[in-house]
This record gives sequence, C-alpha cells and structure tokens, in this order.
Amino acid sequence: MNGTDYTISLEIQHRIRFTRGAFDHGNRTLATLLSNEGENKVAKVLVYLEQAVAIAFPQLTEQIENYFSGIPGFDFRGVRVDVGAEECKRNEKVLRRVWDGIEEEKVDRHSYVLVIGGGAFLDVVGFGAATAHRGVRLVRFPTTTLSQDDSGVGVKNGINAFGKKNWIGSFAVPYAVVNDFAFLHTQPENIRREGLVEAVKVALVRDAAFFSWLEDNAQFLYELKPAVLEEAVERSAIQHAEHIAEGGDPFETGSSRPLDFGHWSAHKLEQITDFALSHAEAVSMGVALDTVYSWKTGRISEQDAHRVLDILLKLGLPLYDEAFERRDENGKREVLAGLEEFREHLGGELTVLLLRDLGKGEDVHQLDECLLDVCIEHNAAYQSANDSVVVK
Ligand SMILES: NC(=O)c1ccc[n+]([C@@H]2O[C@H](COP(=O)([O-])OP(=O)(O)OC[C@H]3O[C@@H](n4cnc5c(N)ncnc54)[C@H](O)[C@@H]3O)[C@@H](O)[C@H]2O)c1
Ligand SMILES: [Zn+2]
Repeated sequence: MNGTDYTISLEIQHRIRFTRGAFDHGNRTLATLLSNEGENKVAKVLVYLEQAVAIAFPQLTEQIENYFSGIPGFDFRGVRVDVGAEECKRNEKVLRRVWDGIEEEKVDRHSYVLVIGGGAFLDVVGFGAATAHRGVRLVRFPTTTLSQDDSGVGVKNGINAFGKKNWIGSFAVPYAVVNDFAFLHTQPENIRREGLVEAVKVALVRDAAFFSWLEDNAQFLYELKPAVLEEAVERSAIQHAEHIAEGGDPFETGSSRPLDFGHWSAHKLEQITDFALSHAEAVSMGVALDTVYSWKTGRISEQDAHRVLDILLKLGLPLYDEAFERRDENGKREVLAGLEEFREHLGGELTVLLLRDLGKGEDVHQLDECLLDVCIEHNAAYQSANDSVVVK
C-alpha cells in the first residue's frame, strides 16, 4: 500500500476591531483594515445591509458611499438592503440574493463583501460569501448585543434546515470584524439587553473576574447604561475570540465546546417553540438549567448556582418557560431530545460542559434525565418565587 500523510498548516489572522461610527468621515478603522494589495490593483466592495439597521440609520447608505468615494483603491459596487432576523435563516431566499449580488457585481476572491446586521443576517450573508467562489473576503459589522459580544466574532455561519438550527453552514474566518458601538443603541431595548446572556455564559466558563464585574454592574446593565453595556460587549467579544484563537480547536473538530455552555437545551427550545423564543432567551434557560445541574451533581455550591440564576433574573432574562412542559408520546419532555441532537450536530461522543466553579468548566458525557427534571422544576419554582426581579 502506498500513501503519504501531509500536514497542511494554516495561519489565519482573525482581525477584531472596536470603534464608533465606522463610516464617519475621518474614521480610519476600516480603511486601514482593507488592503488593496499594491498600487495598481482595485478591490471591489459590495455591502449587504440589514433592513432594520437601514431604517434605524437612514443616512447610512449615503455615508458608506461617501466613505468609499474618499479612499482610493476601491471599486465600490453599492449597498444592497435585505431582510434579517431569524426569518432570513429559515429558507434560501436571502442567501440566493447574496449569491446573485456577488455574481452580478463580479465580486472575486480579492474583493470584499461587507455585511452589516444582526446575528441572523451575518450568518446568511456570511454563508453566501463563504461559498461564492469557494470563499470571498467578508468583513462583518455586527449590530446587536449578541452578535457583537458573541456570534459576530466567531468563525461560523449558516442557515436552518430540516427544522434544525444551522444545519447548513460552514466554518470560515471572516477577513475582519468591526464592532461599531454606535449600532448597539438603536436595538429594541429587550434585544439590547438579552444579548448579554452570552457575556454571562462566557464569563462562567472562562473568566471569574468578568462574572463578578457583571454581577457588580447588573443594575447598570439592566438600565442599558451605554458605557457599561459597551464594556460588557467588548470584554465578552475578547473572551470569545481568545477562546477561538487560542483554545486549540477553532473549527470544532473535537467534541468539547465550552462556548456552547447551556446550548444543548437552548437550540431545542428555540426549535420546539418555532423560534418564538429568541436564541438569547433560550440560552438563558439553558445556562440556568446546566448551572443548577452542576450544583445538583456536587460540582458547585448552591450559593454559586443561585448567584448565576440571580444575575440572569436581574438582567431580565428567563430561567424557565412553558416550552419545558411539552412532552412526546412517551411522556418525556421534548427538550431532552436536544441532548441527542446536540451530539449528532457535533458528531462523536456526547459532550456537555458543566461548571466546576464560576469561571471554570468541565466536560461530561452523560446527563441524568431524572435529575434534569428536578433541575427544570427547581428553575420554574425559583423564577416564580423571584417574579418581582424580572422586569420584562
Ligand atoms: N454563527 C454563530 O456562531 C452564531 C452564534 C450564536 C448565535 N448565532 C445566531 O445569531 C442569531 C441571533 O442573532 P441576534 O441575537 O443578533 O438576533 P437577530 O439577528 O435576529 O436580530 C434581532 C433583531 O434586531 C434587529 N436589529 C439588528 N440590529 C439592529 C439595530 N442596530 N437597530 C435596530 N434593530 C436591529 C433585527 O432586525 C432583528 O429583528 C441566531 O440565528 C443565532 O443562531 C450564530
Ligand atoms: Zn449562543
């Protein structure tokens, strides 16, 4: 038998920038990031802008046009406005239009696609860019709390299929991510606040000091004080990006996925409510569930578990929803099927992260369904006992 094993090593830059007013005259963040690779080359730039953001910033399209007319070396191909939110991931309509635009404007692998929008819109346009010509350069401008503090700085994209989240998708490191804080403050208040759940999540699995800071600032965060919100978003984004860059498994080939703490049930809750529950609300309940499970299996103290539940409640996030009560024909909670689907999505052995401490995780390979029942009931009771804390 003949054959050789080759090692292909890749070194990829993951460029993350924080700014305000990226398209303001004089803001050099983007201009510095985009290279036109030599004096004689002109790179095309095509922009996809989510409709809700275009409405919140009516001058933005003109500002972007002016921005590119002011810097040499770019062939600006326009701004295409399209619909976002979870709806855009449900079918291939927006994806198709992304491919159409890339083809019509003859965007190539030396061009740039800029995407400005929430996490769902970034996922669709990102997948379109990653698959057109086997990958054109993508610069993401996340515009929600959740996309700035988590998904936008990640390396994944995708759309939903077969009733499952992100069934179609790819791993693709964006050319750059620009977190422009100006976008944060036009989101509806509930969306601006709920995206902080991913900051709580990443603090719990990586950074105890950040968790304490979030606790200390919970009231300001609830009130959406801009400076505190921006600091939370930036610290969370850095934690996510550091894990991806330095955690040793950026494309998730192994089974351990600490950034998916609380997500096995979250994805299932989103699915069984047909996305009536947002990703953030579902993650909050998933984090609450796996935190209490960590306590009930002796990994963390009751007091620490309650600290986690309390901060979620203080941020106006839910611990429990009626969706937990849906049962299949055998009387089993539907949400529990999320464990097997999570395993299937990852492949290999079931691996779920539990808390060993606040700021530290531990992988386990089995969860006890009876104990999960107990934890769900605990969170239902805890939420109703602390009803006054939740101001929704
Ligand atoms: N790729 C990944 O690694 C990854 C990770 C986590 C989550 N996600 C995905 O991200 C999606 C959730 O993202 P999200 O929480 O940003 O929600 P979203 O994209 O649905 O946006 C929330 C709402 O805010 C609106 N909006 C966005 N920016 C706005 C702004 N600046 N002003 C006013 N309105 C604005 C949107 O139109 C939408 O109605 C889910 O599909 C989830 O699966 C992906
Ligand atoms: Zn998430």
